[in-house]
Amino acid sequence: MRKTFPKAGRSHPDVLAEIRARKAGDADWRGGRVPLFVFKADDAVDEIGRAAFNEMFAENALGAKRAFLSLGQMEREVVEMGLDLFRAPDGAQGFMTTGGTESIIMAVQAARNLARAERGNAGHRGNLVMPETAHPAFDKAARLMDLEVRRVPAGSDYRADVAALARHVDGDTIMLVGSAPCFPFGIIDPIEALSKLAVSKGLWLHVDACVGGYLAPFVRDLGRNVPDFEMHLPGVMSLSADLHKFGYTPKPASTVFYRDAAHALHHGFDADVWPNGRFATTTIVGTRPGGAVAGAWAVINHLGREGYRRLAGELMAAIDRYREGIGAIAGLHVIGDPHLSIVAVGSDEVDVFRVAELMAAKGWVAGLTQRPKGLHRMMSLLHAPSMEQYLSDLAACTAEARTASAGFAQIKATY
Ligand SMILES: Cc1ncc(COP(=O)(O)O)c(C=O)c1O
Repeated sequence: MRKTFPKAGRSHPDVLAEIRARKAGDADWRGGRVPLFVFKADDAVDEIGRAAFNEMFAENALGAKRAFLSLGQMEREVVEMGLDLFRAPDGAQGFMTTGGTESIIMAVQAARNLARAERGNAGHRGNLVMPETAHPAFDKAARLMDLEVRRVPAGSDYRADVAALARHVDGDTIMLVGSAPCFPFGIIDPIEALSKLAVSKGLWLHVDACVGGYLAPFVRDLGRNVPDFEMHLPGVMSLSADLHKFGYTPKPASTVFYRDAAHALHHGFDADVWPNGRFATTTIVGTRPGGAVAGAWAVINHLGREGYRRLAGELMAAIDRYREGIGAIAGLHVIGDPHLSIVAVGSDEVDVFRVAELMAAKGWVAGLTQRPKGLHRMMSLLHAPSMEQYLSDLAACTAEARTASAGFAQIKATY
């Protein structure tokens, strides 16, 4: 039965009570039982993000140039702070967007437009060359713009195979992609080598640091191994980094940067085609929440490098404990050598998809990789308090999956 449009209105408490009742049945993300989707630093960061969001709750970032100049200023400062963090050369530019997908679509569009401007259109279908571990947002962009995607198997260490990628490049390649890190395994691609390849072949290298951008520099500051991926590398033409992930800012917020101001000119939309005159935006969407801009500005200023470094230290200590716990469960191993807080766990002895089903029965929402089969978690400090419970349930479920009566897995990997 289709829900009818309500005839009469309901009171504020009544409506809110129903939302609360409905969400009571949702997965327990606060208890660390959801392996992705929500990121948290600590209560203080949550509070400042929420307060700043609410301060600009009604304002529309589409009006940042003409009405809400404070939003425009905050947006510019968020971008400039990102350019600084990502070691961008002078003249580099950037934009805020509503998420990693939008940042990627905009960067692909800029690369496509530049290629068209430089090479002409001449019936050629541009292609994007990337490791198989790259995010499907590139495929989404390619479908929208009728581009070809060339996904190339990664190396045995799950990092981009630079020589194999080079073999897939041709005269119609408009973008080479590397991730920092890739979502499936949390491993940073060899961006320095990709940058060299890009420079030698005159290619546009995009670094997808959506998930790691606002975490990796601080993990490196702790003295841990985090390979360079930033914009000081000369082949990196654009870089995407999401604020609403490990920047811990309210959704929806991401950033995308271009090393060359001339390339950034291909980023936006600008048309004077209708009765209302010029319409220019730097996002696909029109209306955007002002709260997300204010929230990003507030959280970055609240934390600063020192705050992000402290949080990175706490998070990586929890990840160390997780990896140690996995190592202590017979039959399980960490897949590859992840750099940050995404960890995939595989097995040569048990079907980890069956383990995931048994874990789901205990209330742990499954995150999975299919090639190879793995249990996937993108952890923030949200996952720290329940770490021991997770590991002990995992040990029990792994042992159960080994038994003949455990049955076969029905579950499929879905994002
Ligand atoms: C590496 C990477 N790129 C892009 C995205 C897309 O980000 P969003 O979901 O904000 O569009 C994600 C999301 O997890 C990601 O991990």
